[in-house]
Amino acid sequence: MTQISSGESKSGKQTESTQKTPDRGVDEKSKLEMKMAKIKHKIAVISGKGGVGKSTVTVNLAMAFATHGYVNSVGILDADITGPCVPKILGIKGQKLQTGTQGISPAVGPLGIRVVSMDFLLPNDETPVIWRGPLKMKAIQQFLSDITWGDLDFLFIDLPPGTGDEPLSIMQLLPDMDGVVIVTIPSEVSQIVVKKAVTFARRMNVPVIGIIENMSGFVCPKCGEKVDIFSAGGGEKIAEDLNIPFLGKIPIDPDICKDSDKGSPFIIEHPKSQASKVFMKFVGKVEEFLEKKAKLEKALTANVKEKEVKK
Ligand SMILES: Nc1ncnc2c1ncn2[C@@H]1O[C@H](COP(=O)(O)OP(=O)(O)OP(=O)(O)O)[C@@H](O)[C@H]1O
Ligand SMILES: [Mg+2]
Repeated sequence: MTQISSGESKSGKQTESTQKTPDRGVDEKSKLEMKMAKIKHKIAVISGKGGVGKSTVTVNLAMAFATHGYVNSVGILDADITGPCVPKILGIKGQKLQTGTQGISPAVGPLGIRVVSMDFLLPNDETPVIWRGPLKMKAIQQFLSDITWGDLDFLFIDLPPGTGDEPLSIMQLLPDMDGVVIVTIPSEVSQIVVKKAVTFARRMNVPVIGIIENMSGFVCPKCGEKVDIFSAGGGEKIAEDLNIPFLGKIPIDPDICKDSDKGSPFIIEHPKSQASKVFMKFVGKVEEFLEKKAKLEKALTANVKEKEVKK
C-alpha cells in the first residue's frame, strides 16, 4: 500500500516520495467501496474559474445541511490538495486527523462536521504540496478509503477550479456520486468556463444538480443601492442555455469574507442575512433533486426487472 507522505525530505525539500509498506492483500477498490457505502450522498462542488467561492459554498452548504436536521451526519472532503482552505473557514485549522482503534478519523468541526484536508497533514502554512497528478489521485483515494468516515448522510467535496487532476480523480473514484454543484460569478468571462465544467460533468456521467451564482450583486449598506460588481444574471442565463437547474444567487456580503477569515462559519454567525437565507434554500433544492433522482432510479430498476421477467 502507498501511504500519503506529506512531510519533507531530510534535505528539507517537499518530496513526491511515497512510502511502500507490505501489501496486506486488501483490495484498495473494495476498501474504498466499503467505506463509501456508509455515506448516503456524495456531492462535489466545482467551477470553471478559480476564486468564485467554491470553498465558501461547500462549507456553508454543509453547515446549512447540518443545521437542517443533519447534525453529526455531514462530512467535507477538502480535495484541493495544493490549496486546502476548508479547515481555515471552519475554524479548525491546526487540528490533526486522529488515529485510534477504529483507524484514522476525520477532524471534527462545528455541528459535528467531519473534515479531511491536506491541511491537517502539512507541518506549517509555508509548506507547499508539489505533487504531480498520480500522487494527488493517490492522496484523494486514501482520503476516501483509509479514513474512517463512519455513517454519514452527506459528504461534500470541495475541489480546486477547472477540470484537472483532482476533479477527475473524484469522478473516477466515486462513480456513484449524486452530482455536482457548479459555482460561478455572473460575469461573461466566468460563463464561458462554466460550459467546460458542465461538459466535463456530462462526459463523466455525473448529474449536474445545478448552478449557483455567487457574488451576485452588492447592496450598499449606507444608501441601499444595489451594485452589480461582477455584472448580473450570468449564472441564471447559462443555466437556462444549458438546460440545467438554477439554484440561486448569493450576494456579495463582506461578512462572508470576514467570517471565513476568522474561522466562524457565516451561516451560523449571520443566520438572518440574505445570503444565509439563500444557503438554507439550497438545502431544499438539493433534497428535491435527490428525491427525483431516487424515484427515477427506482422506476428504471423496476423497468429492467419487468423486462427480465418477460424474457
Ligand atoms: N458572496 C461572497 N461575498 C463576499 N465574499 C465572498 C463571497 N463568496 C466568496 N467570498 C470570498 O471570496 C474569496 C474566494 O472564495 P473561495 O476561497 O471560497 O473561492 P474558491 O472558488 O474556493 O477559490 P479557489 O478556486 O482558489 O479554490 C474568499 O476570501 C471568500 O471569503
Ligand atoms: Mg477553494
